[in-house]
Amino acid sequence: SMIPVLTIDGPSGSGKGTISRLVAARLGWHFLDSGALYRAVGVAAGWEDVDLADPDALQRLAERTVVGFRDSPDGEPRVLVDGVDATDELRTETAGAAASAIAANPGVRAVLVERQRAFRRAPGLVADGRDMGTVIFPDAPYKVFLTAGAEERARRRHKQLSEKGLEVTLDSLLREILARDARDAQRSVAPLKPAEDAVTVDSTGVPIDAVVERVLSLLPDSL
Ligand code: C5P
Repeated sequence: SMIPVLTIDGPSGSGKGTISRLVAARLGWHFLDSGALYRAVGVAAGWEDVDLADPDALQRLAERTVVGFRDSPDGEPRVLVDGVDATDELRTETAGAAASAIAANPGVRAVLVERQRAFRRAPGLVADGRDMGTVIFPDAPYKVFLTAGAEERARRRHKQLSEKGLEVTLDSLLREILARDARDAQRSVAPLKPAEDAVTVDSTGVPIDAVVERVLSLLPDSL
């Protein structure tokens, strides 16, 4: 396809979501939050009481779950699952853990491939996820692998949760992050790893604005 894609892959807490959204806004490009699709299937499984350990039931659930994105005034798109605004529920640790378990299911991943590719529309797409540069958009001309140290990612997550009034220890968050990293990196289907042609950007100790500039610097000025 001639439509350019910038893929931004990396572990949870690397700042991918924030950076991808800001970069997409700066370029005036579309934005794909692929994690939201996995989270949506996780949330729908809870609603419909589908067993996370039943691969066929999960694949059928992924096929029938309709996920929509709607722009909101605060810049963070609202996510509709089967027509219901599930934005807040999708952000919970429960939804993240369900998504991570579901993401190991090859049938579910296969269902989501074409849905993700459909986001590639003019003038361009910023795609945020784990396998955007390796599996979904292997031909993307611009690929970033965004990382940050595990302690820093735990601190960022802790700050976010504290701001929402949620009490969680830094230590338990660090343990969760390390467990999720290991699961995402070790699964046999679409494991988290940089594409061979990705540029690794380490955001440890780097302010958001500077990371955005660094990512934009990888693209030609003409865009
Ligand atoms: O990015 P986010 O934290 O929303 O993703 C939730 C989970 O969905 C991840 O832990 C990962 O297991 C899975 N995921 C994936 N492939 C993607 C995006 C997310 O496997 N492209």
